[in-house]
Amino acid sequence: MRDLSYAAVMGRKNEIMKASMGMDYNAFIHSPIAFDYERMMRDTGYSLDDVMRIQSDTKVGQTPLFELKNLTEAVRAFAEPGKGARIFVKDEAANASGSFKARRASISAFEAQKKGYQGMAAATSGNYGAAVASQAAMRNLKCIILQEVFDSKGVGQPEIVEKSRACEAYGAEVQRLSVGPELFYQLLMTLEETGFFNASLYTPFGIKGVETLGFEIAQQVQARCGQAPDAVVITHAGGGNLTGTARGLLAAGCDRTRIVACSVDLGGLHMASDADFNRKSFTTGHTGFGVPFATWPDRVDVPRNAARSLRYMDEYQLVSQGEVFFVTELLTKLEGLERGPAGNTSLTAAVTLARQMDCDQIVVVQETEYTGAGKHHNRQLSFARENGIEVRVGDPAGNVPGRTIVIPERLEQVRGKVQDMDRLRHSYLKNAAKAHPVSLWDESDHAFLAADLKKDVAWVKQAVQELG
Ligand SMILES: Cc1ncc(COP(=O)(O)O)c(C=O)c1O
Repeated sequence: MRDLSYAAVMGRKNEIMKASMGMDYNAFIHSPIAFDYERMMRDTGYSLDDVMRIQSDTKVGQTPLFELKNLTEAVRAFAEPGKGARIFVKDEAANASGSFKARRASISAFEAQKKGYQGMAAATSGNYGAAVASQAAMRNLKCIILQEVFDSKGVGQPEIVEKSRACEAYGAEVQRLSVGPELFYQLLMTLEETGFFNASLYTPFGIKGVETLGFEIAQQVQARCGQAPDAVVITHAGGGNLTGTARGLLAAGCDRTRIVACSVDLGGLHMASDADFNRKSFTTGHTGFGVPFATWPDRVDVPRNAARSLRYMDEYQLVSQGEVFFVTELLTKLEGLERGPAGNTSLTAAVTLARQMDCDQIVVVQETEYTGAGKHHNRQLSFARENGIEVRVGDPAGNVPGRTIVIPERLEQVRGKVQDMDRLRHSYLKNAAKAHPVSLWDESDHAFLAADLKKDVAWVKQAVQELG
């Protein structure tokens, strides 16, 4: 009989992880901070061509790129003369299971099948569960998805309820939990009991799968416009979307493309709080994940996170819930496309960017997901009202996460907010110091931190001194 107490299961974490992925992270780890990131990515054994081939077998990738001419015109109507970049969207709803997460699940499913696992398990309340379930279905693997769905009153956020439905539709068993710390414990027990593959969001297999997204954007923009995109806007939660896309753009030679992260501003709401759980109208792509994951990626269910967004990020914009709802409806009415909340978060940031950029420049937005049922903006707005949140029209500066959603009256009012990148980097360094005291940092730690922050070693040393 195995000891299933919390402490005992957590104590077996490393051996469970090793057995459920067939990957020994100790081979790359130098210290509690530094590890050989590129070696970890290379050791997956998959080239970009391999990934594309694998994905095409399971209905992933080669999604369309559309130019949003009407929205571009709408931005130009109030932009300064000569401003108003061309806005394109990469339509990731066209992947199997309806989101870019299919890219992320596809290589794990291939790997699980190749290594003879009977099934896959993942802890996620997002699109990723549906993606894993759909990829598993095509590869004849079993699938278990663990989700935080409910608050303590048993009320489920409509978007997560929709995702539960999708997972079950693709044949997965779904374990529904309420908000709390037991998700990881439950995942470990499931992996140990079933011997399934750990399809964590944060493995190098997942991030390798997203690289094709950046690569395709580069190729499609080049073929259509004869140049590289000037900026790509990427919705940020755990940071894998940004990491994989940026790596794919770099692999295609786009080293001057501006990588812009974007999240919905949910400042003041706590992600692990039962009371706040149903007071947010977005379940991903928000600051509740975006900021903590950017500033300490290794807070995950594998020993090291392959999603490391500050390595690649040039700018981080925040948008309000009301602004995203407005732009969601505008996309439908001007462009005839209904798409999901996470992608429209980026589209909202792109409006602000396009307004500042020249007319002949190109900004690409990842429309990362489908919409419908609980994901739809009308359902989210009625759920917000049911939870006592005021919804009104006016100046979006009046948005207060969890209290008020203010939908702009005009596109011109969509402004977003740029975050201070150095503040994020400093916060990362403080987290690194908690993981490993500064007095013990050696050359490999400094070099790793510099690469992880897109800075040089001198900057890291100076920042550490300033932070005391
Ligand atoms: C549709 C969609 N877009 C964007 C994101 C953000 O991706 P990441 O968590 O890798 O930052 C997610 C993740 O939940 C998502 O489901």
